[in-house]
Amino acid sequence: MDKQINIKETLDWYIWAGVVETCADEVCLNHSPENLNLSSPSIQIQPITPDLQKSYIPSTISHTNTPLAAAFDNIAKNARELCSKATSLEELKELVQQFDGCNLKKTAANTVFGDGSIQARVVLIGEAPGADEDRIGSPFVGKCGKLLDKMLAAININRADCYITNVLPWRPPGNRTPTDEEIAICLPFLKRQIELIKPDFLLLLGGIALKSLLDVSDSISRTRGKWLEYAINEQKTAKVLATYHPSYLLRSPSQKAKVWSDLLRLQKKMNNEE
Ligand code: URA
Repeated sequence: MDKQINIKETLDWYIWAGVVETCADEVCLNHSPENLNLSSPSIQIQPITPDLQKSYIPSTISHTNTPLAAAFDNIAKNARELCSKATSLEELKELVQQFDGCNLKKTAANTVFGDGSIQARVVLIGEAPGADEDRIGSPFVGKCGKLLDKMLAAININRADCYITNVLPWRPPGNRTPTDEEIAICLPFLKRQIELIKPDFLLLLGGIALKSLLDVSDSISRTRGKWLEYAINEQKTAKVLATYHPSYLLRSPSQKAKVWSDLLRLQKKMNNEE
């Protein structure tokens, strides 16, 4: 007689093993390699090692003044030093692709570097790649990206004239919120992109971009729509506007009007009308 499959036990085992999302419609209960459709682009299978398992668990502990905190600081310092060597976006992209100091890289399919014009007047900054971006390797190409394209078109901005990037170049497993350590390690990559482009404007999409780049304690809902500043270097300061992330708008369409008014502010300022 066939062995009875206990669904709860199977699911519990998956959770224990670090599975955080399903990738396909059909359930495959025999996970022998021959039985898995490895040709499907949406299925990424990796052996689960203890290290990999740890990387699924977001850090909730404050590591201040511990050897671990010192190790994270060191990695972030290395990232900063590495970035300062890049004199072009191409060089920086190469360095980020080779960087092994962030645990998120282990579970990501691709490094998602920024995309767009080096001459962009405005740089848009999201949080981290989602599943589509991770699979394709470019920022904002999934559902959020489609909405972002529409938002830009509504204020007569062509996506190709902007530069679009994220705080993190690697997708956190299951789209979980990035930890403070992951943000600190990856932030030099974002800051160097901004230094190389020297845009007049930054549009921060969501609370993680806001909190990572600027020292603001207020929430995104209190900060959105207000002009802020970011010092790119000693000579140049960018005008900064924060607004809600497109993924939040997909979940809460009633907030679209607020983002629309933020975008109009950006458009006016870019046209010297405000
Ligand atoms: N959400 C983000 O913050 N960035 C992306 O690239 C896609 C979705």
